[in-house]
Amino acid sequence: MIPESFIQDLLNRVDIVDVIDKSVPLKKAGANYSACCPFHNEKSPSFTVSPTKQFYHCFGCGAHGTAIGFLMEYAGLSFIEAINDLAKNVGMIVPQEQSTPQSREADAQNKTIKLGLQESLQQAANYYKAQLKESPRAIEYLKGRGLSGQIAAKFQIGYAPAGWQNLQSVFANYENEALQTAGLVVENEQGKRYDRFRDRIMFPIHDQKGQVIGFGGRVINPEDTPKYYNSPETPLFQKGHELYGLFVARRAIRDAGRVLVVEGYMDVVALAQYGIEYAVAALGTATTPFHITKLMRQTDEIVFSFDGDNAGRTAAWRAAMNALPALTDGLKLRFLFLPKEHDPDSYVREFGKEKFEQEMQNAMPLSQYIIAHLSENNPLNSQEDKVKFLNEAEPILRQIVAPRSALFMRKKIAELAEVTEAEMQSLLKLPAPNRVPVLATQKQSRAPISIKKRFVLMLLMQPSLAKNEYLNFAQGFGEENVLLQASIHAALQQPQSKPAALLHTIEPNVDTKLLNEIRYELALFVKGPEFELEFEGACTQLGKMIQKKQDGGILDALKEKPLSTWTADERDMLKNLTAKKT
Ligand code: UTP
Ligand code: MN
Repeated sequence: MIPESFIQDLLNRVDIVDVIDKSVPLKKAGANYSACCPFHNEKSPSFTVSPTKQFYHCFGCGAHGTAIGFLMEYAGLSFIEAINDLAKNVGMIVPQEQSTPQSREADAQNKTIKLGLQESLQQAANYYKAQLKESPRAIEYLKGRGLSGQIAAKFQIGYAPAGWQNLQSVFANYENEALQTAGLVVENEQGKRYDRFRDRIMFPIHDQKGQVIGFGGRVINPEDTPKYYNSPETPLFQKGHELYGLFVARRAIRDAGRVLVVEGYMDVVALAQYGIEYAVAALGTATTPFHITKLMRQTDEIVFSFDGDNAGRTAAWRAAMNALPALTDGLKLRFLFLPKEHDPDSYVREFGKEKFEQEMQNAMPLSQYIIAHLSENNPLNSQEDKVKFLNEAEPILRQIVAPRSALFMRKKIAELAEVTEAEMQSLLKLPAPNRVPVLATQKQSRAPISIKKRFVLMLLMQPSLAKNEYLNFAQGFGEENVLLQASIHAALQQPQSKPAALLHTIEPNVDTKLLNEIRYELALFVKGPEFELEFEGACTQLGKMIQKKQDGGILDALKEKPLSTWTADERDMLKNLTAKKT
């Protein structure tokens, strides 16, 4: 545990411009620095770094963060690693005393366990790879599926020989706890251990650093089941987070500017064999929003190609639904439906790379796919048809927050149901989509933001203006008041902090959507010469609003009371209030 106050100090001490400029060369542009965004593909720069606010913000994809966030997102460091790295640069010493002996021990233990798992998995991978060379039958099988030795080596494919305890020859201590945790051995009810993978082609699964974190194993005997057997979830391996082939494909994805998501291990490998090296596979699970977000860091074009059979179609629909929350306007998401009898592996083998890539060009955009799916078994003739259509569209529309995508989807859905957008809006009560991001260089009129939000922005820009009494403004319910309260507290505690540090403090307590709006507005905020006057004005206005609310409350309470029971004070109060009103 690193104390929050240290993190604040650190964020106020480092210069985010230096930190980012080391990896992404920045150009001065007015008060800010800018570059093409490292988190999505773009041709003109919408990524800005502000030395005064100490955060980066991309007006194209919404990426936003502090110097710590940048090192985590861009360099893939952990939170602790990022802090250590920054502290070293500015000569600060990361305090350790907050951690208890117990938590330190747990940390150390955790590290040892993970290291143990890692080593065991790597040793096993080496063994399987060596065993492949010794097994003409396994080699024959791979050759029969059209794979060259080169591709097998590239994906570090191996072979787990038949037999129950082959790994005994690999590990000095077959009883080691790590082997079971890593999912390399299984223990039966009698406590007897045996190898999990036997007589299978082994596909090692790598994390983004290229370390082995698990395996998929395919049978050679067609009678054996299940056809594929995967490592269990371990502290190193979470299926919903990892994609098979991503480490190998990283370069190719960046070069091609797109990633192809398929269902199977063999699809990834066969595609690479035929020259399509930018394919990855979800690991026997549906693609998750987490997968999508991970891929969006590498590219802004994702093509899904699942098997042509019914299971493949079901998987495609699930992928589409899971992608909705992660959707941004810059992302191109498309679906390639292969003929029923094909999967990507068989298709590329039969028709080759050119034809496959040509098909990819014609893949169906997500919006079109959603509409096609919703109207598949719905002729949209009767009123009932249209009601059903709208009912099914509603949860989908609710999840799309990317402004332009939401706009067009709503238009299209309303059109098909033959209602106006306004009618649909009032019927479904859809949430407002995120505001359309405007490029920093483009001056556009934006909807005015509420006075409370404006006040928060000013406080975050100059926290030294905060006073205890402002907490009064945060009366009532609602996320906006939570935001206001959190901001005032943060400003009171750290009057000299930069906006980035303050945002970091309030982040855990504030509604995400509201926070994103504040980040965006803050990135656009320019402190003019009238700043302090404007701040005073806002205080007065908020004060009046609160007073009005309180007065209203008193009046309402008095009205409830029989006149004969009023005290002299209450009569006075009423007189005052009515005088104020006129
Ligand atoms: P498929 O059954 O479509 O296999 O499963 P495939 O990729 O075409 O395999 P080949 O061509 O017969 O070798 C697709 C994916 O679903 C998962 C695996 O990740 C597989 O790659 N799967 C499938 C399992 O996890 N277990 C199974 O028993 C089957
Ligand atoms: Mn197949």
